[in-house]
Amino acid sequence: MSTDQQWDIVTGVGRTALAVAAGRAAETARPDALMSDPYASLLVAAAQPGGPFTAPGRSGGKEPEDELWAATSEYVGLRSRVFDDYFASASADGLTQVVILAAGLDTRAYRLGWPSGTVCYELDQPAVLEFKTRILDAEGAEPGCDHRPVPVDLRDDWGAALRAAGHDAASPTAWLAEGLLPYLPPEAEARLLQEVSRLSAPGSRFAVERIDDIARLVDDPVLQEGSDDLGIDVKSLFPGGEREPVETQLAKSGWELENRTVSAAADALGRSMARMKALTEHVTHTFGRLP
Ligand SMILES: C[S@@+](CC[C@H](N)C(=O)[O-])C[C@H]1O[C@@H](n2cnc3c(N)ncnc32)[C@H](O)[C@@H]1O
Repeated sequence: MSTDQQWDIVTGVGRTALAVAAGRAAETARPDALMSDPYASLLVAAAQPGGPFTAPGRSGGKEPEDELWAATSEYVGLRSRVFDDYFASASADGLTQVVILAAGLDTRAYRLGWPSGTVCYELDQPAVLEFKTRILDAEGAEPGCDHRPVPVDLRDDWGAALRAAGHDAASPTAWLAEGLLPYLPPEAEARLLQEVSRLSAPGSRFAVERIDDIARLVDDPVLQEGSDDLGIDVKSLFPGGEREPVETQLAKSGWELENRTVSAAADALGRSMARMKALTEHVTHTFGRLP
């Protein structure tokens, strides 16, 4: 794998995984929580005790008056539920091969109810995956599936590592790219989407969170200020550049696609858009099926 730029859970793009986990911890603590991640708070505290992401339920948390944080954590809770439901539906339809691209501190392998025989591959940077499994092992957490971390750089040829870990391209896969694509340079994004298609047997599914106007999002002064606050330099993490729309790229490989807006998901799940509206304006959840 490429060694030119790696990161752990508190540096570079790895730190965004910590922010998302803190969002799930905040969601879990809500009386009207849309999902529950019993490990999020533990992971955040273990990564950085007392830091800006200190999770609710441990010691405090971000200030409730921080509007950007409120919007971010409300959206993270919503999107986690949306993709939890995606996996529940794929499992109900008999898919037992799951690949979570850029898994970060995602704990679905541990917290969701998987049908027996399900194999969950998690791809991310080595230090990110090592941190998560070490903390969850020490907690005595047991995966509910055959959990296979695959340390890779998703800008490189990660397909070989996935194959070596046992992935069977002849059986359908339920793929997820949640909070990933904007961090990849355009050519790496295109390669990744092609590789997913190449490794997908008929009947595979693909859920993607996409942001259509990354440049505008990155230039938003509120996001910039909030990110500085959390020690995340969004400008340097989003490589920008011209991209062919994700939908176009996937359609060329034969995926049948359905787009759902964040506000449609919020309506369906009874969550107010009031605080999330500006943050999620350019976000779409795209669901693909390969006939
Ligand atoms: C915003 S976090 C999302 C994590 C997880 N999907 C979630 O929603 O909780 C972004 C993740 O992408 C991973 N990532 C970004 N670029 C990557 C790359 N080139 N190779 C491997 N992982 C990458 C980071 O390490 C980080 O864990």
